[in-house]
Amino acid sequence: MSANIARTCLRMLTLLPLVSLAISGWAVEPSAMPGTSGATAAFQLPPLPYAQDALEPYVSARTMSFHYGKHHQAYVDTLNKLIAGTPWAGQPLEKVVAESADAADKAAVFNNAAQAWNHAFFWQSMKPGGGEKLAGRLLELVEKSFGGFEAFKDAFTTAAVAQFGSGWVWLVQDGDRLKVVKTLNADTPMAHGQNALLTCDVWEHAYYLDYQNRRKDFVQAFLDHLVNWEFAASRLK
Ligand SMILES: [Fe+2]
Repeated sequence: MSANIARTCLRMLTLLPLVSLAISGWAVEPSAMPGTSGATAAFQLPPLPYAQDALEPYVSARTMSFHYGKHHQAYVDTLNKLIAGTPWAGQPLEKVVAESADAADKAAVFNNAAQAWNHAFFWQSMKPGGGEKLAGRLLELVEKSFGGFEAFKDAFTTAAVAQFGSGWVWLVQDGDRLKVVKTLNADTPMAHGQNALLTCDVWEHAYYLDYQNRRKDFVQAFLDHLVNWEFAASRLK
């Protein structure tokens, strides 16, 4: 396969999540997260799906105020500055992520666009009172793919702890199987043609105020008390 054909295939794969996002309706597209319409519209920080103190005691309001109000906001603001006056201004965020993913000279655009998308996805991956028991097709796929729910939790926790430095751990769908994958820094499954169902941010800014160096405790709290399985199930194809 030539490099051009390979790039074309990757581009087609990376655009697939655009369809699912539009259907699931949670939102990182011009009508929702980005600044509405028009070629000069700027991206906007999407509203949190719950109050900043709603995830306590597992994630404090102080952590949320910094993580959402400072870090996520900074990715959005930086992205807007980077793409102002370019053909990406006013385009859906997913399109900016996909098109900058394999452009070596656009690493800053990719990093900030992917982080804007990853964080919006992370907020949706949690809810107050989350972590309930799995049911339905998602439970069937977890059992089929990992051998059981506890085995999935072990795999997810192991990947999160093993991520060296900053990054993310994800549950993704690959055909009729699910996988746990981890990504470094801003990297995102969308850039690799994978359908993300769920994510946990394991950058230190996600947990250090509440858990200091105890990343494993944070991830276990995420799995036991915060995971929004309804959102994950809504992402299944
Ligand atoms: Fe983060």
